[in-house]
Parts: sequence; C-alpha cells; structure tokens
Amino acid sequence: MSGHLAVVGATGAVGQEFLRVLEQRNFSYDKITFMASSRSAGKTIEFKGQDHTVIELTEKSFEGVDLSLFSAGGSRSKQYAPAAVKAGTVVVDNSSAFRMDPDVPLVVPEVNPEDCRRHQGIIANPNCSTIIMVVPVWPLHKVCPIERVVVSTYQSASGAGYQAMLELEQQTRDLLAGKPIEPKVLPHQIAFNLFSHNSRIGEHGYNEEEMKMVNETRKMFHSDDIYVTATCVRVPVMRSHTEAINMTFSKPITEDKVREILSAAPGVTVVDDREKNYFPMPIEANDGDDVLVGRIRQDISQPDGRGIDMFVSGDQLRKGAALNAVQIAELL
Ligand code: A2P
Repeated sequence: MSGHLAVVGATGAVGQEFLRVLEQRNFSYDKITFMASSRSAGKTIEFKGQDHTVIELTEKSFEGVDLSLFSAGGSRSKQYAPAAVKAGTVVVDNSSAFRMDPDVPLVVPEVNPEDCRRHQGIIANPNCSTIIMVVPVWPLHKVCPIERVVVSTYQSASGAGYQAMLELEQQTRDLLAGKPIEPKVLPHQIAFNLFSHNSRIGEHGYNEEEMKMVNETRKMFHSDDIYVTATCVRVPVMRSHTEAINMTFSKPITEDKVREILSAAPGVTVVDDREKNYFPMPIEANDGDDVLVGRIRQDISQPDGRGIDMFVSGDQLRKGAALNAVQIAELL
C-alpha cells in the first residue's frame, strides 16, 4: 500500500503483534503512526530500526491517515473509528464493536474475502476463537455443508490482553514461592487453574465469547442453517487458543476425506500422528501463521457417519488477531 498507516493500540498485546506481522510480511506504506492512550503518549516504539513516538488517540489523530489497524478495545473503536472514517481512513477493527453491524463486513480472508468489497470505511476482524475455528471448518463446510458444531475452547491469557499475560506469569511465580496472590486483571486465579470465560453471561446462560462464535460464524458463512454451541474456558496458557470441535455434516463424510480437504486448505497445517500421540499444542502454534489441526476422527456417537471430531490450536495474537487484520489490509 502507498500512504499513511496507523496502528491504534500499538502498545498492547495485539498492537505489538501488529508490528511483528507488518515487518515479517514487509507490508508497504509511506508513513506509519502509532497511537495509544495518553498514558503512553510520548513513549518510543522501535520499528524497522527506527524510533517512533507514540501519539495519543483522539478524534483529530486521523488527518491524512489512509488505513488504520485498531486494537484498543471496543469502546475506543466505537468512539474513534467513526472519526477516522470521516477523515477518509479505512479502519480494520479488531474489536467486537462493529462485527455484527450489517453494514460492516466481517472477514477471514480464507473464508469470505469477497465481503471486503462492500465496506463503507470499516471492516471488522472476527473474534479470535471464531477465526481459529472457521479456518479449518470452512473448507469442510464448502465440500459438505455442516449442520451443527459443538466447540469447547481452551483459551490463553493473551486473549485478555498484555496485562493478563503478565498476571499469569506473576501469579505462577508467586504461588511457586508460597506467596498469596490476588487476581487483578482476570476475575479468578489463572495460574494452576482454569475458569469459564471472563465475559458477561447473557440471557440463555451463554457468555459473550460463546455467542460471538455462534453469530460471527453464521455471518461469515452467510448461513442461518449452521447451528453452533460453544463452551469457552480460560486456561493457564500464555498464548494460542486450542479448541475441541465436533461437527455434524448434512451427509456422511469419512475422516480420510476430511484429512484430504484439510491438507490442501489455506491457513491449515495438519498435525495428526496417532502413533506418536502427537497433536496440536499451543506452544507449537505460537508465532505461526497456520491453525494446527489434529485428532481428526469419526465421531462414534454418530453411527450414520455424519460426525467428525477434531482438535485445533492457533496463535490467538497472530491469526486470531493481528495477522488476520493485516491479511484483510493486504486484500484492500
Ligand atoms: P496503553 O498502553 O496506553 O494503555 P491490551 O489489550 O494488551 O491491554 O492493549 C490495549 C491497547 O489499547 C493498548 O495499546 C492501550 O494503550 C490502548 N488503550 C487502552 N485504553 C485506551 C484509551 N483510552 N485511548 C487510547 N488507547 C487506549
């Protein structure tokens, strides 16, 4: 791209990953600006061997900016993205603020790149757990439509931001040293524990994260006929989300066919060695671009052959956030 690029929330966990992804993919621009809160304004970020001063995010920060990658939380997106669009900036927004807005495309480039074309200034990046699920589920759905997905997640601390990652590390150190701990960022002890995802529980007993997986999948697949139920759990893993995915297809499908489709699918690496009991793990998904997929097997509880189970792991900060957003920017 030629023009002026801005990274909003540049000091955060996803923001920092934006920088790595932009550098690794050699994303082209003429000028780059880093924005964060007033707490960070004036700090220096080193990028591609040059020092850049962080500026405060305000409604006036977008003069002359052509493209902005936003990851500073939903309320900041709601407040500042309209001002950015008004100033002529295209916003790729990593928050949930606009994802279900019918006028805003919600895009995973491996799934629905064509939706980018109808943007009116804002393109939304889906929820991290949703992205990691749909990258391997979509190519299967294309070949044999899926009727139902049951997904259980094992979500890392990085999904709750940089401070949550620090909290996991500090709690682990403190507990090993026999010191008392007091959760501050996450609602419960995360070290040596796990708990139901820390988002608000809605009227049917599902939390917000679970409903994002339901609704965003339907929006991107352009289908109200795919039924998703999710149980989202936070686990003491630093980064990369893992998910157990059970699918019911409209017709029988074999595990060999699923393996064949996934072996050729973009953004997917099959890691499925039964003999060695070697399958996707978050530490091996870390820093990678692909979603790792394994434990591919026929679901024995569906004797008509329509059920498949699989276990996937993907880097939440990369494909689940920064990489997907940069790939959207590349499509533009
Ligand atoms: P800052 O570091 O100045 O607080 P994370 O999700 O890892 O916690 O990161 C959140 C990102 O959003 C950080 O870059 C953070 O900047 C930024 N941010 C948080 N609150 C604001 C705000 N009120 N205005 C602008 N940026 C904000």
